[in-house]
Amino acid sequence: MVSDQEIKNAVAVLRAGGLVAFPTETVYGLGADAANPEALKKVFAAKGRPHDHPLIVHVADAVQLANWAREIPPAAGKLAKKFWPGPLTVILRRAASVSDLVTGGQDTVALRVPSHPVAQALLRAFGGGIAAPSANRFGRVSATTAAHVRSEFGDTVECVLDGGAADVGIESTIVDLSGPRPVLLRPGRITAEQLEKVLGEALAAPDARSPRAPGTLAKHYAPQTPLMMMEADLMLELASSLVRQGRRVAALARSALQPLLPELVWIAAPADAEGYAHDLYANLRKLDEAGCDTILVEEPPLTAEWAAVRDRLLRAAAGAQENLS
Ligand code: TXA
Ligand code: MG
Repeated sequence: MVSDQEIKNAVAVLRAGGLVAFPTETVYGLGADAANPEALKKVFAAKGRPHDHPLIVHVADAVQLANWAREIPPAAGKLAKKFWPGPLTVILRRAASVSDLVTGGQDTVALRVPSHPVAQALLRAFGGGIAAPSANRFGRVSATTAAHVRSEFGDTVECVLDGGAADVGIESTIVDLSGPRPVLLRPGRITAEQLEKVLGEALAAPDARSPRAPGTLAKHYAPQTPLMMMEADLMLELASSLVRQGRRVAALARSALQPLLPELVWIAAPADAEGYAHDLYANLRKLDEAGCDTILVEEPPLTAEWAAVRDRLLRAAAGAQENLS
């Protein structure tokens, strides 16, 4: 998949302050040496991301938390033991040495130990922390394949490691452990229920004192085509009436059966939450590329296992609404 030589080259690029896109089990990351401010600036420039949006530092194992956080609460130990390496990010109080470019000027730092073998090989060979946001332009659909990364950045990213399609397909669960109570900042494959079981306490909802997680607010993950989410019957009705009016419509269905409308661009997504998440961003990209006037998405169930998918779709809809103006 990725050779030792490619890992060596990628490490050389990181050490020289360059950018390396690499696969993780969630989505592809756009990586830079987390200890090199000049390299970090390139991440923000490549993404078109405002500087007050903090970055996740990826490390090879939990032992390295001590290099980045000044306090490691017992809850972090419990979660690390159960879920790392894996699709979980924890927010801890930062160590004094961490760059403001990583923390967005906040008193906290986000840390994650990814499980993807290529990410692990890269982190072990590099030795330090790699700051990596999702490898997409700011506000856009995240990348789950190396081809997605190239279509986002072209030649501006000198090194792209191709580790195949990301397994989980949506970004890591983020839990804030910097305050008195654990707070869920971003839902993901690891659910609130799973976290609560290991922590032995309920997660609190974010409040005014919680660290800002700007990427988790409003518009995000947005295709360029306006996107609306609705239940199956309404989606079918609206699709056929729009097609009859001569509009070009794309639909992301889950349970709805494909109507006999040859003009309709139709994707039948997997019916289970994990399969749906795995394909989600690739499906949104395909629907966007179809060049339709509207994307209609069948609403996912309201159950806990669909929470993360629902979160991403709501933000995609909010972002697409903004793209209208
Ligand atoms: O699965 C993932 O987490 C992927 C892969 C590449 O690891 N990364 C990712 O990074 O999704 P990004 O930058 O697209 O999203 C990170 C989120 C943002 O919403 C950011 O605001 C939040 O984490 N974040 C980072 N540091 C934070 C901090 N100190 N406090 C609160 N939120 C933080
Ligand atoms: Mg992102």
